Amino acid sequence: MVNPFQWIDDELSALEDKTLLRQRRTFCSVPGGHCSLDGELLWNFAGNDYLGLADDPAVIETAKTAIIEGVGARASALVTGHSHWHEQLVKTVAEFKKAEAAILFPTGYAANFGTITSLVGSEDIVFCDRLNHASLIDGARHSKAKFRVYPHCDVAALKRELEKARGYRRRLVITDSLFSMDGDQAPLKEIVDLAEEYDAMLLVDEAHATGIFGVNGTGLLEAHEVANHPNVISVGTFSKAIGVQGGFVTGSKSLCDWLWNRARTSMFSTALAPPLCAAAIASIGLIKSEPKRRKWLLEQSKLVKEKLQEQGWNVPEDVNGPIIPVLIREPEKTVSIAKQLQQQVILVAAIRPPTVPSGTSRLRISLSYSHQESGVQALLDAFDQLDTTC
Ligand SMILES: Cc1ncc(COP(=O)(O)O)c(C=O)c1O
Repeated sequence: MVNPFQWIDDELSALEDKTLLRQRRTFCSVPGGHCSLDGELLWNFAGNDYLGLADDPAVIETAKTAIIEGVGARASALVTGHSHWHEQLVKTVAEFKKAEAAILFPTGYAANFGTITSLVGSEDIVFCDRLNHASLIDGARHSKAKFRVYPHCDVAALKRELEKARGYRRRLVITDSLFSMDGDQAPLKEIVDLAEEYDAMLLVDEAHATGIFGVNGTGLLEAHEVANHPNVISVGTFSKAIGVQGGFVTGSKSLCDWLWNRARTSMFSTALAPPLCAAAIASIGLIKSEPKRRKWLLEQSKLVKEKLQEQGWNVPEDVNGPIIPVLIREPEKTVSIAKQLQQQVILVAAIRPPTVPSGTSRLRISLSYSHQESGVQALLDAFDQLDTTC
C-alpha cells in the first residue's frame, strides 16, 4: 500500500539537508531578560517583549483580577464574547492612539488578515511592500484583489504603480511601519502623501512600533507626524511591546463598525481571553506612565548597532529601533553562529528562508528593557569573541 503522506517525510528531509528544518524547543521565561532552554539559563534576545512588560508584577496582578470571572471569553466578540474587559480595552486603545474608535482581534495576524479582506475584493488593487509581514501578504492574497508588490520602501515605484491603477474601484496600500526582520522604518510621511494624492486607503502595521516610538509611545505614525490621517488605518498587536496577546485596529468609527460587521477573523473566532484584556490595559498604563522604558531601549539599540558595526558585523545603516539584524546570508553559517552564541549564554534567532528571502539569512537580535546594561554588555562581548571562520 502506498503511504499518501510519504511526501511529507521527503520534504522534511530536504529541509534538513538545507539547514532549513525548524526544531520545536520549549522555553521558560526567566525574569531579568533571561530564559531557560532545556535547563540552560540564557540571555533572551529572541523575544518581542521590548519593554519588559510581559512579566511586570502590575500587569500580572491586573490579569489575576480578571481571571476570577473565568479564563476564556466563551464566544466570539460578535455573539457574547465582548465583556466589560474588552469594552474597557477598546476605550483604552482608542484613547492611547488618540483615535476615534478601536476594534479588537484575537491576534495581530487576525487583525491584518481580517481588515484587508474586509476592505478590498476582486474589483480592487493592493500595493504591498516586498518585506511586509506574512499576515499582510496573506490577507491581500486571500482578498481576491489584484496584488502588486513594490520594492522595499521604494516610494517612486509605489507612485508609478498607483498612477497605473486609477481605474480600480478601491486602492489599498499596506506596509509595516517598523519592519519585523529588517528593523528599518517605512517612509510613512511620503507614503501617506501618495495615499492622499491617489485617493488610496493606507493600512500601516504598527506591530513592532507600538509602545516604542513617538513622544507618547504610540508608534511610528506618531513619530512621523501622520497619526490619525484620514486615509490611514492603524493596526497593532498586544503581543510585542505591550507584552500580552491579541490584535487591534484604530481609525474612524465607521471603519471599526464595518470591521465589526465584516471581519471574519473576529466574527468567526473566540474573542480575546478577558485576563489578557485586563493585562493589556495595565501594560498600556505603564507605557504612558514610564517613558523611561522606551527611551532606554532606543538609546541602547543605537549603541548596540554602532558597537556591532565597529566589530565588523553587517548591520544595515538604516536599522532604527529594537530589532537589530546581523546579516550573515548563508543559512548554515547563520545557524552555526547562533549555536556559538548560545554556548556563550546568548539566545538570538537564526532567521532563514522562507521567513526572509533566500541569500539574506540573518541573526535577529531583539533588545528589551529587561536586559539592562549587563545584558547588553554580555551580548556585545559574545559577538566580539565569535569565530566567524565557521
Ligand atoms: C509586523 C507584524 N505584524 C503582525 C504580526 C502578527 O501579530 P501576532 O503575533 O499578534 O499575531 C507580527 C508577528 O510576528 C508581525 O511581526
